[in-house]
Amino acid sequence: MGGCRVIVISMGELSIDRARDLDAADPLAGFRERFVVEDSSLIYLNGNSLGPLPKATRQRLQQVITTEWGNALGRSWDHWVDMPVLAGEAVAPLIGAAPGQTIVTDNTTMNLYKLASAALDARPGRHVIVTDNDNFPTDRYVLEGIAHQHNLEFRLLSTDLNEGVDADLLSRAVDDDTALVSLSHVAYRSGALADMPVLTQIVHQSGALMMWDLCHAVGAVPIHLDECDADLAVGCTYKYLNAGPGAPAFAYVAARLRDVLRQPVWGWFSQRDQFAMGPEYRPAEGMAKFLTGTPNILGTAAVEEGAKLIAEAGIDRIRAKSVKQTAYLAELADEWLLPLGCELATPRDPDRRGSHLTFRHPDAEAIVAELAKSNVVTDYRTPGRFRFGLSPLTTRFVDVHNAVAATRDLLTARNNHG
Ligand SMILES: Cc1ncc(COP(=O)(O)O)c(C=O)c1O
Repeated sequence: MGGCRVIVISMGELSIDRARDLDAADPLAGFRERFVVEDSSLIYLNGNSLGPLPKATRQRLQQVITTEWGNALGRSWDHWVDMPVLAGEAVAPLIGAAPGQTIVTDNTTMNLYKLASAALDARPGRHVIVTDNDNFPTDRYVLEGIAHQHNLEFRLLSTDLNEGVDADLLSRAVDDDTALVSLSHVAYRSGALADMPVLTQIVHQSGALMMWDLCHAVGAVPIHLDECDADLAVGCTYKYLNAGPGAPAFAYVAARLRDVLRQPVWGWFSQRDQFAMGPEYRPAEGMAKFLTGTPNILGTAAVEEGAKLIAEAGIDRIRAKSVKQTAYLAELADEWLLPLGCELATPRDPDRRGSHLTFRHPDAEAIVAELAKSNVVTDYRTPGRFRFGLSPLTTRFVDVHNAVAATRDLLTARNNHG
């Protein structure tokens, strides 16, 4: 009996239809409608820098402006004063913190300064602060500044720019003279996800305190600060929490340390009896002692709304979609971008990365600028890298597909023009 072998050649895996199928099966797809999308042709892959505006936040801010500020004026301080604590409790479940350990205040930079300074006070006789050379600039600067101020040693781990912090290197860098170690959970450049339980344990074995920067993690990856026995954490709210430009950051202090630590900025909002206007400073109880001056009420309201939206979507579902999307992006990039001179500058294993993917290319800065002209917003990071940030509540699989296709076409045109 004769026969034949049928071979099907399919473009299926790379086709836009596959992206559409993935969107159709996405349980979070409906959340995109909860955000303001003024330009439907815009492909926005920069939510890891500034998240988009939720409609609920716009409405809440209108209400705060019109009713609470416009009508009630200063009388609104009767409930405004409680907002930093309440917003902290809204963020707490997203970072794995039991109540009473999180507050929304200041910016990440200030919170780094306050918590790091307080941590050093709590480890007298130790003379070393450790971080890594790939940590976000503000973290390195603040920590080095504190080391300088207190005449301490500032120890920098040398981290692989694509792969993130190495546990063995950290083990070798900490000792019984180490007071504080501070690292980012998700690396801003590569998106590498640090192993929080393992690294925290290494630090604790040396007797030092551990502070995590959660800026690129909160709202994108599940975080378990209490479970990991972390001591301190800070993070911003304008990325995956979508609280808007300059919205206040959060600070976490483990309950066992909260009442022991002394906050270095003795502002009147951290005073126990603020309106007594008394002659001496007595720190407030609970997390309020980590406040400084008058809180940013509009920003704090936006943090509450942003955190509520993430909680409603569920961080596990967000993470599942993010993993699927970064894997999809990596797959398209393998086919379309790597042959054109790009190199993946993010860990290959989805368990080892957050929600953005970074590519290395000698013309990265020009690529970002040219993509922007085609309404594809990404961003550039030194040295020679561009990032695609995926925000699972708004980014669609078709956006990922079209952004990679646009990058491919751009690179092809550049290569053809020599
Ligand atoms: C990891 C990390 N830490 C800190 C910051 C800066 O914090 P801020 O400017 O809000 O003080 C950023 C900003 O992008 C960041 O990505």
